[in-house]
Amino acid sequence: MDSGAIGVGIIGLGTVGSGVVRLLEDAPTSMRRREHVEFSIERIAVRDLSKERDVEIDPAKLTDDPTAVLDDPNVQLVVELTGAEPAYEWVRGALERGKDVVTANKALLAERGEELYALAREKGAELLFEASVAGGIPIIRSLRNGLVANRVESLYGILNGTTNYILTRMTRGEGGYDEILSDAQAIGYAEPDPTMDVSGRDAAQKLAILSRIAFCCAGTGSDVFCEGIEEIESSDIDYARQLGYVIKLLAIAKRSGESVEMRVHPAMVPADSLLANINDEFNAIEVVGSAVGNQVFYGKGAGQMPTASAVVSDMVAVVERKADGAGPAVGDMVLGQEALPVAPVEQIQMRYFLRMQVCDLPGVLEHIARILAGEEISIASVLQKERDVDGGLVPLVIVTHEAREESVQRALDAIASVEAVQGAVRLIRMEEL
Ligand SMILES: NC(=O)c1ccc[n+]([C@@H]2O[C@H](COP(=O)([O-])OP(=O)(O)OC[C@H]3O[C@@H](n4cnc5c(N)ncnc54)[C@H](OP(=O)(O)O)[C@@H]3O)[C@@H](O)[C@H]2O)c1
Repeated sequence: MDSGAIGVGIIGLGTVGSGVVRLLEDAPTSMRRREHVEFSIERIAVRDLSKERDVEIDPAKLTDDPTAVLDDPNVQLVVELTGAEPAYEWVRGALERGKDVVTANKALLAERGEELYALAREKGAELLFEASVAGGIPIIRSLRNGLVANRVESLYGILNGTTNYILTRMTRGEGGYDEILSDAQAIGYAEPDPTMDVSGRDAAQKLAILSRIAFCCAGTGSDVFCEGIEEIESSDIDYARQLGYVIKLLAIAKRSGESVEMRVHPAMVPADSLLANINDEFNAIEVVGSAVGNQVFYGKGAGQMPTASAVVSDMVAVVERKADGAGPAVGDMVLGQEALPVAPVEQIQMRYFLRMQVCDLPGVLEHIARILAGEEISIASVLQKERDVDGGLVPLVIVTHEAREESVQRALDAIASVEAVQGAVRLIRMEEL
């Protein structure tokens, strides 16, 4: 090991791990010019030692035992890139040994970050995680550093490339949900089991990480109100277009008094807004800060090299802070008394799109309007088309003015018991941005 180089141990040499090794080998001038930035890869743990690798690695450095990486006295910085279940043990183990950690593991941080940040601080070790949210977009560093002088008021994200790809193609009229999901799986944009993505849970975990930084919000990924895109139909997209909106899976966090709204759900956004025009597998985050106003971060939210770029930027940050004699930055992730709770979703207010199939009989609209009025929900517009008559049923679309989530849910329960309403009522929330 070169004297002066920092000893690196990598756990996981898959898509991202291989990208990191490649970037370290082909370090661009911007990295080479930095005085203290020199890395020496000492050990790499993988699951299967016999697997062929697409980067050249000295076989003597490979192990199938991640603990050997943690215990190697030459390893000062552990880079966890597995996404595997025991990642918690490995990250904890590295921090307990006083070693710095860089990880891309959003699930780990969204659910157990609090305890790991506290441990890192106690041990004087660093824990950085830029790649865990929005791949190559440096949103975490921007929130922690560039925007530190701002009180963040709200944050809107398209944080999941798979769902954005599916919705983009549905919006272009290229097929229905199931068909496009199969295409996405065939080209590797969706996992064989796409549940984490399409249910919104992946975006919810990323939102929890961002909200901790932007709002000091103590909520975990499981605390985020979450609805996926599985039920979105082409007709919802057509109605959205008629109303001047586009449907996106949005991750939203907003300051709300002494708490923070955190939610992920399909949302109708104005067709001329920036986020409505983030297409395919791209990610974007719009941050509204007290001093800077609106800022939008846009780019590739996943993929080998964008994600590796974020990992290596964290590795450089670890080395430079050490060289400067600065303590770890992780201290600001420990919230203490400043922690804000998650606002109950029932109290959230917004506009709603409601779509239902009703019997083509006089008085049905009036009945539904009475139920909404009883919950103090006022109607902004109604769409009902005679030519869509299908077996005596007509689609009825209602757009409300701003209303409370709990009132809307009560109204939906009441509407569901109206005899003339057939099947479930589709609800899509609307965000004016
Ligand atoms: N891929 C992306 O675009 C992306 C984007 C953002 C964040 N991330 C995150 O980055 C992390 C890595 O993702 P990836 O796509 O690179 O995953 P991947 O291609 O599946 O690679 C996982 C690596 O971990 C190793 N591994 C798994 N279980 C192990 C065990 N028990 N012991 C030792 N090694 C083990 C695997 O070994 P073998 O090679 O021997 O199987 C493989 O090298 C995940 O946390 C993921 O959420 C990925």
